[in-house]
Amino acid sequence: MSRPKIIAGNWKMNCTPAETKELITSLIASEKSESEIVTIVCPPFTSLSVASELLSESSIKLGAQNLSEHESGAYTAEISAGMLIAAGVKYVIIGHSERRQYYHENDSLINAKLKAALNNGLLPIFCVGESLKEREAGKSQKVVSGQLLNGMDGLSLENMRNLTVAYEPVWAIGSGKTATPKMAQDMHKYIRENLAKIEPAIASSTPILYGGSVKADNAVGLFSQPDIDGALVGGASLSADSFMKIIEAA
Ligand code: 13P
Repeated sequence: MSRPKIIAGNWKMNCTPAETKELITSLIASEKSESEIVTIVCPPFTSLSVASELLSESSIKLGAQNLSEHESGAYTAEISAGMLIAAGVKYVIIGHSERRQYYHENDSLINAKLKAALNNGLLPIFCVGESLKEREAGKSQKVVSGQLLNGMDGLSLENMRNLTVAYEPVWAIGSGKTATPKMAQDMHKYIRENLAKIEPAIASSTPILYGGSVKADNAVGLFSQPDIDGALVGGASLSADSFMKIIEAA
């Protein structure tokens, strides 16, 4: 089954609204109208409305980096799925390793966030990946299969069809150490096998993105692998030039 190629930029805690305007204006200027690549940008919350306005005539889609598992109420500083939708957001990153590591998000919270997103019509980019310690202990597969199984617990088939998975080995994020195409492919294939065990109907159709120090010069090798359907890009998505080069490599 053919799957869409997706390149998503996770801007993390970067870009004021003015900087967002500058970056998105440059992306729009170099956007290829005939491109079949699904391009997504995920600015911080405070830049979503300016981004949404600028992208209204563009094929570039808007994503957020997190959401609350709750619908509304007394949850100071949280942002709900409904608020994201009202701000023009289509995609949302859930379970990023920085959220797991620094903000103690565990599989059950991530599961609740996936449900909140999907039940409100947002498309999650569900992140999984092992730490260096776990890889060195030979536990990468066990960690990733557990994150998938627990994160997706109780999702309906219809909801699962709207998932994109991102494999981001923690040791490759922001470190300049990319997984080799073979290492990444092996894990992507393993993820697809696990998706087949969870729900056979989604295994071949779910896009699986690679993330971790993706740059224009390593993107071609990664994208040539059969189970790598694109990338979740951090640092290199903060410059229109380097992000566009990655899109061109897809
Ligand atoms: P870098 O591309 O900066 O390594 O970040 C990857 C990432 O965490 C994307 O979500």
